[in-house]
Formats: sequence, C-alpha cells, structure tokens
Amino acid sequence: MEAPVCLIENNPNEKLQVNPEALEILQNIQQPVVVVAIVGLYRTGKSYLMNKLAGKMKGFSLGATIQANTMGIWMWCLPHPRMSDHTLVLLDTEGLGDVEKSNTQNDAWIFALSILLSSTFVYNSMGTIDQYALEKLQYVTELTKHIKVKASPKKTSEEDESDFLRFFPVFIWAVRDFSLQLKLNGRRITEDEYLENALKRKPDSPETLDLAKKCVRQYFPSRKCFVFDRPAGTRDLEDLEDLPESKLCPDFLEQSNKFCQYIYNNAQPKIIQGGHRVTGKSLGHLVQTYVDAIASGTIPCIENAVTVLAQIENTAAVQDAITCYEAAIKQRVQLPTETVNEVLEAHGQCEKEALKSFMARAFKDDNHEYQKNLANQMQSKLQELISHNEQVSLDRCQAVLMDLFQVVEEKISNGSYSVPGGYQMFLEDQKEKLQHYELAPKKGLMAAKALQDFLKSREMTVQSILKADQILTDKQKEIEVEKIWAEASKREAELHEKMRIEAEERAEQEKQSYEEHRNQLMEKMEADRRRLLTENEAVLNTKLEEQRRVQEEGFHREYSRLQGEIQNLRSQISEQASSPCVIL
Ligand SMILES: *[C@@H]1O[C@H](CO)[C@@H](O)[C@H](O)[C@H]1NC(C)=O
Repeated sequence: MEAPVCLIENNPNEKLQVNPEALEILQNIQQPVVVVAIVGLYRTGKSYLMNKLAGKMKGFSLGATIQANTMGIWMWCLPHPRMSDHTLVLLDTEGLGDVEKSNTQNDAWIFALSILLSSTFVYNSMGTIDQYALEKLQYVTELTKHIKVKASPKKTSEEDESDFLRFFPVFIWAVRDFSLQLKLNGRRITEDEYLENALKRKPDSPETLDLAKKCVRQYFPSRKCFVFDRPAGTRDLEDLEDLPESKLCPDFLEQSNKFCQYIYNNAQPKIIQGGHRVTGKSLGHLVQTYVDAIASGTIPCIENAVTVLAQIENTAAVQDAITCYEAAIKQRVQLPTETVNEVLEAHGQCEKEALKSFMARAFKDDNHEYQKNLANQMQSKLQELISHNEQVSLDRCQAVLMDLFQVVEEKISNGSYSVPGGYQMFLEDQKEKLQHYELAPKKGLMAAKALQDFLKSREMTVQSILKADQILTDKQKEIEVEKIWAEASKREAELHEKMRIEAEERAEQEKQSYEEHRNQLMEKMEADRRRLLTENEAVLNTKLEEQRRVQEEGFHREYSRLQGEIQNLRSQISEQASSPCVIL
C-alpha cells in the first residue's frame, strides 16, 4: 500500500460504514497481522507516530489537514519490518472528539472498534497523565456498553467485564509534549512507573476519575508508557510532517525511535480464542461483523464474531485440506496399482498430512463438525480413487487380452481349430497367450479378475472347439471339461481369497484413519486445554496483583468482589488441571 485508506467511515449523522476498497485489501492478506491502533484527540500528533511506524514521512494525515479527510478509522498495511511473513496493520483514528464534526455516539463506537480490532492499542494524549487526561478517557469507562464478550444473554455486564482482559490488546499510553521530569519523591522513575503512579487510586477522588483508573487497570493488564518531548521549538504538532528530521529536537527523535523499536520488537500478532492467529483476511471479517452489529443496533460481541470467523475459517480449512490431500495422493499413487494396499497406505499418509493442515488452521470446531466433514470427504475421495484404480486396471487388462487373443479369435472364426487335434492346438495357443498376459506390465490389481471374466466369457466357445475335435474320445472330452471347470473354480477361489484380504485391509485402514483423527484431535484438545490453563493462571495472577493493590489503596468492596472472581478462577483452574481431555 502506497498510502493509508479509510477502513471505517464515520460521517456526521450517518451510520458507521466499512469501506469496500479497504476490505478488499485485507481480503488479500493471508499472513497473520500485528494490529497497532492509535486513539486520542485530534491535533495531538498521533499521525506522526503512525507514519513513523510505517517508516514514512507522510501518510496518515495530521491535524492540520483533517478537514480534507474522512473521519473514522484509517488503515495502512505494510510488511512487518521484523517478523517475516507477518503484516503490520496500522489503524489511525481521525476526528475523535472533534466537537464540530463527529457525533459522540459514533466516537464511542470508533473507540471500541479500535480496541476490538487491535493487538496493541496506543492512547495518545497531551501534556501529562493528570486528572484531565484521565477524565478524557471516558470511553474506556463506557466500554461495557459497547463491547460484549459472551453471546449468552445470562451473563451480567459485570461478569462480562471481568473477562475483558482476556481479549483486550496491550495498552500503551503515549504522552506528548511531556514537560515534567520523570521523578517521584525526588527519585527518578521509569515511564511505566510514571503511568502506574498516575493510575493509583484514592478512595476520596472524584468518581469519574477513579472509574477511569479502575477500568484501565482492570481491562488492560499489559500496560506501557512512552513520554515524548515537544518535537520542535515553538512549532505546533500539526506541522510536524513538513519538518525535516534535522529540525526536530533530538530527544523527541530518540523517543520516537524508541517507541517504534518497541512496537516492532514487542507488539504481538492479533490472536483470538484459542491462540488462533488472525490473518488480514479474517481481520476483514471481524471488521465487517462488528460494524454490522453496530449498524443493526446491537452491541458487538466477541464470541459471536469469533463464531462467524470460525465458520469461515473452518470451511476454508476443510477445503484446503482436501486440496492438499488431492495433490499429495496424486503424487504418491500411480494408477493402476498392483494392490489395494498401495492405495490405502498412500491414503493413510496423505490423510495424516491433510488432517495436520486442517488442525493447524481450524479452531472452535466445537462438535468436531468440520473435522467429521473432512473425514467423510477424504473417505469418499478414497472410495473414488479405489474405484478409479480398479477401472483403469480393468480397462488396461481388457485391452491387453483383446490384443493378445486377436489371432486366436481369427483362428476360431476361420476354422483353424475345427480340425482333428484342433483342441490341443487351441490349448497350446491359449497357454502361450496367457503366458504373455502374465508378463504384460502395469496391469494393476484387477489382472486376475479381468482374466477370470475373460475366460468365463469364452467358456462356450472353448467347449464347442472341444466337442468338434474328432480325435478325442467322449471320455477324454469329459475329462477335459472337468479340467476346465476345475481351473475356473480354482481361479474363482483365489479371487475370493484376494477380496477377503482386501476387505480386511480396508477395515484396517478405516480403523487406522479413525485412530489418526482421534489422535490428532486429542493432541489439539490437549494443547487447547494447556493454553487455556496457562491463560487462566495469567489472569489469576493479574487479579491477585490487582487485589493486592486495591487492598493497599483501601477499596474494600472491590477487594471482596475480586475475591469472588479469584475463587471462581481457582476452581476453574483446578478442574482444568485435573481433567485431561477425553473423547467419548
Ligand atoms: C486363419 O487366421 C490365421 C491368423 O490370422 C492365419 O494365420 C491363417 O492362415 C488363417 N487360416 C485360414 C485357413 O485362412
């Protein structure tokens, strides 16, 4: 992308709208995305940081040119400078809090969408993190009205809210034109300590202020702070993009670089439930689902969006696995094969690979519906392949037989065998042809069956040659007929035995296929269980830390509320830890 495009338009007095052009760009990104969103009042130099992240001087507009631009969320997709095979998606919000142009209702949605879509969320503000800055964070305090975690209506918003931290991005506070010294009680402190200190709660502070602190701490357990000096003498932040770097204050440049390096090295790919990485394409689906929800007057729900995404992704995962299976089996098997087992073994290998590719991509396949679908499809592919293999072999065998016996046929028609001793001549000819048949290459697994059918179809002819042969006595003829029958039934018995073995091999294959599906499913479920357990333990630690803090700060009611959440979490964890997956 040469320049950013508007992703979600926020026009005054209109519903939010997704820009199809931007969706198309996302549609074509198959790589996982690292999504960095920046939010804050207009004319605070947000775009400078975003352009800097993009490695460009210009791109996202700055305050000065805002009038020319559509408001809403702007997007810029770039190759990630550090992580190969990843795309860096930068989201800049335009016009937030611009009283003249935007409507506050939509602004709240834009704020919520930036959180829902990003994996790193940068909040940009001016001056210091003081009461004013915190109170400007009103949108954070209203997030329960704009984001739902669970689809089930039973969940209270408080229950829902306690899960925000599982889904929310890393929070970075970028403080611009910071003019204070990073000191607390005469001691030098880090930027992060500065932020944590600003988020300290006091029982007697104004309610709105306290709520903002509480929400930031509760929703965003991963927090980071960067402070920036004034970029250049007296110049406004608005003109930043027109200044060459040499005119910018060195401290500011260094701080900007530090910020960018941090994002490049630390900002994580966007993930959803089950650690599943979001690709550009699926990010597009998320955008659409969330904006549709808002347009239809409902609150965007993370669980619903993930369900929608899972359906799309799992369908694609099945399709891709089938394509992978077909390509692999084509490479492994040359039709016709000599045994059915060759096909079964190749199928086993290819199914395993295809299943792996499916498992790597599928998620939230709760009733294993997609996996079952894949299993059925692969089984019918196998059936098709087996039938095709038989047909190819049959065709080839028939062609070989026709070719070999052409002369014999001619001799039958022109009466060459209708002479005394003709039957013996016939037998010798036939024997020779059958030896040739035996040696003919690439007949495949139907060689015996094709021969049996061929000989059967000629029984009457052979018997009439025998009958017509005047050199043989009736007794001899009887013995010959017996011989013909005996040979035919011997071949028949061999064919039966062959089919019995093949049926056993098929049964064995089905058993193995089932085992393979089961094993890979168990592995995935076990990995999911461990991931959830680790996540729950991390959440528990965060809540314990927050509980310690509120106790210290003297918020006793909250201490008890957290105690309840912590107990719930502990029992969930012990349940998960003691019950490995079982598939019934
Ligand atoms: C009958 O056909 C065979 C095979 O084409 C040939 O060799 C033979 O000479 C023919 N015999 C007569 C009597 O036409």
